[in-house]
Amino acid sequence: MRNKIVAGNWKMNKTLEEAQALTSELIGMIADEVKGNVKVVLCTPFPYLHPVNQQLGSNKRISVGAQNCSEHDAGAYTGETSVSMLKSMNVPYVIIGHSERRQYFGEDGKLLATKVDKALAALLTPIFCCGEPLEIREKGTHEQLVKQQVEESLFHLSAEALKKVVIAYEPVWAIGTGKTATSQQAQDMHAVIRKHLASKYGAVAEEISILYGGSVKADNAKELFACADVDGGLVGGASLKSREFVEIVKAI
Ligand code: PGA
Repeated sequence: MRNKIVAGNWKMNKTLEEAQALTSELIGMIADEVKGNVKVVLCTPFPYLHPVNQQLGSNKRISVGAQNCSEHDAGAYTGETSVSMLKSMNVPYVIIGHSERRQYFGEDGKLLATKVDKALAALLTPIFCCGEPLEIREKGTHEQLVKQQVEESLFHLSAEALKKVVIAYEPVWAIGTGKTATSQQAQDMHAVIRKHLASKYGAVAEEISILYGGSVKADNAKELFACADVDGGLVGGASLKSREFVEIVKAI
């Protein structure tokens, strides 16, 4: 049985006060309304990881996650945050390779492979993102590109290490655009990713949670999450409002 996960990616939004207000709303609503064993991850900006984690206390269902980490261990890298810093703050998850990091910060597959290694070595769970831009989808080479992204950053791992990774498929054309992939498009790509993992790792591929991301909303989450190979979501804009996010969590 694969883990069901709904992760909210807050990106660079909210003041500390707003972040804490959202967290306390989510703690209450999720305790009251969410059944089953879905895991909820709040990927907050770095400065809020510690206070939000304190607020969560020993909450069994909700955890925090970072949105990025450094590929370096420590030292003179102004503005960076290492995996050991995250570990020391009891942060269990880290997003690696979000398309905004790839696009605006020039992160490529090789660098992301290093970040994945660092995260795993610090016993963090990487949420590794992949996904194609619009022009690649229009050219029809999207499956090839996504397979390549997965291969470049994950295929050096042992099967034991791969089991600790969560993958998020996020078509770039669906991120923040309001244009969601259809559930068929999501299922097709998730199946392609799983088959590609199986070609190297065999049955282990069945154990990997693959999340869908890109304009997930309360009104489309149910259909997306009903797909056989979709194990949850990575949610941007809709994770900033408690009611909308909790409805997405409940859709799983
Ligand atoms: P969105 O973002 O839900 O606002 O499209 C998703 C993401 O970037 O992870």
